[in-house]
Amino acid sequence: MITIALPKGRIADDVLDLFARMFDCNFAFVNRKLILQYDNFRFLLVRSQDVPIYVSYQAADLGVVGLDVLEETGVDIVRLLDLKIGQCRVVLGSKMNENINYDKPQIKIATKMPNITRNFFSKRAIATDIIKLYGSIELAPLVGLSDAIVDIVETGNTMKENSLKVDEVILESSAYLIANRNSFYSKKCDILDIYNKLKILVDTN
Ligand code: PRP
Repeated sequence: MITIALPKGRIADDVLDLFARMFDCNFAFVNRKLILQYDNFRFLLVRSQDVPIYVSYQAADLGVVGLDVLEETGVDIVRLLDLKIGQCRVVLGSKMNENINYDKPQIKIATKMPNITRNFFSKRAIATDIIKLYGSIELAPLVGLSDAIVDIVETGNTMKENSLKVDEVILESSAYLIANRNSFYSKKCDILDIYNKLKILVDTN
């Protein structure tokens, strides 16, 4: 039995579609069920941010999750394959027609991703006050809560609609197939079989 944690939300549909093609079945979680059993596989539907946790604790052998989430959670897992879906960028952004004032003793950054933000600025030895938010990050600089944001950009529409600009790209992200370290050794054949099937689909896309 192989257990695979799949993410709800942003990349869920693309991921489910990929797995549906791989298993050649109509792949859907129904009636708010969070476990889907198929053949020798068990799929778990979890919050994207929780996928690395399920995999690192071996509640799932495999998972699919964005590189941004992986970088933010920083767990010890095996990164197997870039699935080339769910592409987005983690960016530093601020108000249009204004520069970030690096002369301030401390820059306020609003973000859902405090760890990525801390790493980015500490490498540059820039002092920051990181304000952790859970959504609608683009609002923060508009109402003076922060000087800038670190956030995800996919189409760019949210930033544009809110008169923000991208100052720098911090990370190019896409969804990765990841594995628990122990599972990777104990279930290597099954995992490599999934890896190979997914790789063919990814390469022919
Ligand atoms: C994400 C992100 C941006 C938006 C970017 O938020 O934090 O707000 O999507 O997408 P775009 O570039 O295509 O406009 P999400 O939709 O996950 O909602 P949230 O703000 O509630 O986290």
